[in-house]
Amino acid sequence: MAQENANYKGIILAGGKGSRLFPITRSVNKQLLPVYNKPMVYYPLSTLMLAGIREILVITNPGDHVGYEQLLGNGSQLGLSIDYACQDKPRGLADAFRVGRDFIGERNVALILGDNIFYGPGFQGLLADVSTRTSGATVFAYPVKDPHRYGVVEINDQNLAISIEEKPTEPKSSLAVVGLYFYDNQVVDIAANLKPSPRGELEITDLNDHYLQRGELHVEALGRGFAWLDMGTFDSLMQAGSMIQTVESRQGLKVACIEEVACVKGFISPAQLARLGAEIPNDYGEYLQERAAELIAERESGADG
Ligand code: G1P
Repeated sequence: MAQENANYKGIILAGGKGSRLFPITRSVNKQLLPVYNKPMVYYPLSTLMLAGIREILVITNPGDHVGYEQLLGNGSQLGLSIDYACQDKPRGLADAFRVGRDFIGERNVALILGDNIFYGPGFQGLLADVSTRTSGATVFAYPVKDPHRYGVVEINDQNLAISIEEKPTEPKSSLAVVGLYFYDNQVVDIAANLKPSPRGELEITDLNDHYLQRGELHVEALGRGFAWLDMGTFDSLMQAGSMIQTVESRQGLKVACIEEVACVKGFISPAQLARLGAEIPNDYGEYLQERAAELIAERESGADG
């Protein structure tokens, strides 16, 4: 049985000029750049899939959807339904809920930024817990040494949010708000009525503050044993690739391998996974075929026992 989350649809925000990565991103959209052995977008996509989300909208810059469609198609090979929408210019993260309004319809929605990597123990369980919430909003807080670069949340000893601010010069805590957010359907109307900030953007932090003021903002802590990375600079892109390479070569297991995740979640069968592997003539394809064989063996022994 597929471990599906019927409560939430998902949006991956893969727009933006990526100007901090020029000249690399002059001709290639940032979220298509390689992070070790896979395109960057695989990492946020696998996070949504681990949350059991199967209906996904990818928001790109005008023209950039072509590369994503070539890579991911309509998602059916992964047991997903993937749609594409275009943001004609960057207006801030909260614009995702204006662009995605029709896609969201009456449903709840999770938003993930296309350059965010999440890796750590218990993550899938945490996502499952969060996905059972069908009202209010959930954000995740992570300790960082440079909180002024992020949205910053201040919490009390019951993990309830007291304040949330975007890139404060004097942060009230060291907890950054990461680029993964879960919202109930109210988000569509809240985003529609949001005013641009002094820097001219529809701020996700203003949206989250709406929920906070209503007492409907849940905060989940990601502890220090967890890795959260975003890839906006040359160094952070390189560091993310090195981290994935280190973990994968040590374990012989792949991180954010969307084909494997699709099979483990029951969105596709092991036979379908093996077929996807056969189409990729290198180690990555072999890995998919090996995992398919292992998953078949596991299921057979499970069925016997
Ligand atoms: C955005 C959000 C910020 C959040 C960050 C996470 O910042 O505005 O609140 O902490 O993503 O990656 P940006 O990366 O657009 O500067």
